[in-house]
Amino acid sequence: LAAGEFAFYCKFHPGMRGVLTVTGAGGGVEPERPTFDQPLVVPPTERGADIRLVMKRARVRTLPEGRRTSMWTFDGTYPGPTIRRRGGQGTRVTVVNHLPKGAGSTSTHLHGDHHAAKDDGQPTTQLVRRGDSRTYDYPLTVDGRATPGSFFWYHDHRMDRTARNNWRGLQGMFIVTDPPMPGVRLPSGSRDVPLMISERSFTSGNQLTDPFADGPEMVHGAGHDEMSWSGDLAPPNDATVGDTVLVNGRAAPYLDVSATRYRLRLLNSSPFSSYNLTLSDGRPILQIGTGSGLLPRAVVRSSILLGPAQRADVIVDFSGATGKRIVLESVPAAIGSTGDDARQTAVMELRVGARASDPSRLPSRLPSPGLVSPVPTEVAKTWTFGLDDGGDHGSAWTINGDPFDPTRVDHRARLGAVERWRFRNTSDVTHYVHIHAEQWRTLLRDGKAPPPWERGLEDTWRLEPGEVVEVAARFTDYTGPFMIHCHMLDHEDHGMMSRFDVVP
Ligand code: C2O
Ligand code: CU
Repeated sequence: LAAGEFAFYCKFHPGMRGVLTVTGAGGGVEPERPTFDQPLVVPPTERGADIRLVMKRARVRTLPEGRRTSMWTFDGTYPGPTIRRRGGQGTRVTVVNHLPKGAGSTSTHLHGDHHAAKDDGQPTTQLVRRGDSRTYDYPLTVDGRATPGSFFWYHDHRMDRTARNNWRGLQGMFIVTDPPMPGVRLPSGSRDVPLMISERSFTSGNQLTDPFADGPEMVHGAGHDEMSWSGDLAPPNDATVGDTVLVNGRAAPYLDVSATRYRLRLLNSSPFSSYNLTLSDGRPILQIGTGSGLLPRAVVRSSILLGPAQRADVIVDFSGATGKRIVLESVPAAIGSTGDDARQTAVMELRVGARASDPSRLPSRLPSPGLVSPVPTEVAKTWTFGLDDGGDHGSAWTINGDPFDPTRVDHRARLGAVERWRFRNTSDVTHYVHIHAEQWRTLLRDGKAPPPWERGLEDTWRLEPGEVVEVAARFTDYTGPFMIHCHMLDHEDHGMMSRFDVVP
């Protein structure tokens, strides 16, 4: 530990908290670093218009030694195949549920994408039973224009089981490749590396632990696509955390890079934890995008805090570092004492080799996707993220005081309208708010202009206790039900989700 103040608290009873003060003792102990003895693996790439992904159990290499790990996968790999398509190239993805008995039905959501409600992979009404399949259509257009280059990801979204199903492995990446951008040439090919960062815990036999053994049960209605949440709260596990960080499914991998620029697409797909990512030699990280398109200007950052489902599109220049081994690591974030700060952990190692020619060109002003304007001054909807402690149904994570009910419409937005929404965190812990259907512009964070890395399009925001964030978007193309929820999967599974409908 470094000297400082650290909050500790019970994840399930956030009021139960305290502060640990570590005084400067001198000669601090360096945290132990792993030895990085397996190479990074980049998942297989799918580029076709018609993609079939079979959800099935497979034994995959996660830890460097010993047995492989049995996981639930898309198509036999963890992460599933990385889909790469250009904006405007309509894409059909068919998922087939061949998971083992006990897995139950699933739902696959393409996070960040703009698509019809029927293709949203919704949590209770679009379930794919074992033995069944479902086809999702992703036009990769927004309001008649091609979706800008983005870094989306697909993952399971079944209500009440999302944390479990993601922990078991139902996750993959989806890249919308950049349109031609005059004057810009970003690192590409083997120098464009998607990195899915996600933690797990393992048994001594290299198998995933099961934090969900006694979870609350889903109540199944008459039809297979009708289910409601049992409302049986007080689940034993409300924070799915692991002790081992995987990158593209491997613990502590290394990547050989040449002494030139790389584009790293960082995704935190952990169910619950945040990472504050930095490079061990203090090398700057140039953030060019959010995952939902490029920022208007590249931003130099020394660390990047990513909560669950958040992405950052960054450039790292390794020139001058030949022979060095640089660790991508997570360090505690110096933000308040909310008790939810990122953990200290090594993530992966970058081994820098010889120089190489580098055709990349990077102006400071980037061709960022258009942001909605003008923006209404009136707030159309306020969403309050809180905890309902007690009452006859036990405690639950709530939005506007209620746990999720898929039959209740909490807001209606008119198709074509631009709306301004406000989020407010009235609970004691940080949440990460995610909205389906549209990409949003961040207007205000605590009454002030958002930081420069939050000035592109976004779909997931950090919301600290007491914080108020305002965002705006135009509702285009699709009517129907969509979700807003906390992306800490245990909070989502335990009620912190709402339905809003886009209406004609
Ligand atoms: Cu990434 Cu509603 O989810
Ligand atoms: Cu939350």
